Amino acid sequence: PFNNMMNSYYMDPSDPNYEICQRVIRDMTQYGVCVLNNFLGKERGLLVLNEVLEMYRSGIFTAGQLVSNPGSTEAQTIRSDRITWIDGKEPHCFHIGQLINQVDNIILTANKMVNNGKMGNYIINGRTKAMVACYPGSGSHYVKHVDNPNKDGRCITAIYYLNLDWDVKRYGGLLRVFPEGTNQVADIAPIFDRMLFFWSDRRNPHEVQPAYATRYAITLWYFDAQEREEAVRKYKRGQPSSSK
Ligand code: OGA
Ligand code: OGA
Ligand code: MN
Repeated sequence: PFNNMMNSYYMDPSDPNYEICQRVIRDMTQYGVCVLNNFLGKERGLLVLNEVLEMYRSGIFTAGQLVSNPGSTEAQTIRSDRITWIDGKEPHCFHIGQLINQVDNIILTANKMVNNGKMGNYIINGRTKAMVACYPGSGSHYVKHVDNPNKDGRCITAIYYLNLDWDVKRYGGLLRVFPEGTNQVADIAPIFDRMLFFWSDRRNPHEVQPAYATRYAITLWYFDAQEREEAVRKYKRGQPSSSK
């Protein structure tokens, strides 16, 4: 979906994604955070959930790592989720693939609808694979952090939540965002079929509060073309085998 980026873009207001894109643009511009409920609808949401449950049962999830310090045992005190990465084209991931396509569509379209191809001054041209995460209850959590504190190229975090009948009072597991420059926080419950977007940089420190029931989510991080290119270039320069 990331080929053929156009310089200008017109979306027909009758397009089913038109209003969603308008809201994404408005909320990201105003708040840096955007929540969309009933994103896929119950039926398609359940199909995604079933694929995630099957994958979890198959035993492929492993302990979450820290980007800054992969492989460290320290990681589990910071984040106690279990994760797996997928591209959505694997067998038994059809509906997750559909979800990914839909999110790609909205992000790229919203990006193209603003400023001739920019939203928040980004030109989005790629993303990570999908991270499927499970917080397996028992107080599992992720301490306050910034996804992209040091310009690794990620500009938008997109999280889709999968938890039916999530009772915040009993299960906790809120995502708490601490938007930069305010004393306010935004508490986002990880409820079924909710889609969330926020800027990945220092504007949005956030934490996952201890979860006391199994909590599933799927996350994508979208790249700004220029920041990503610079990050990859710096990374390559730091590699001992690279020719200088
Ligand atoms: C809005 C809005 C609430 C929600 O963006 O105007 O009503 O959860 N958001 O959809
Ligand atoms: C993350 C994260 C939030 C959530 O994985 O970086 O902050 O609500 N997840 O699952
Ligand atoms: Mn995060």
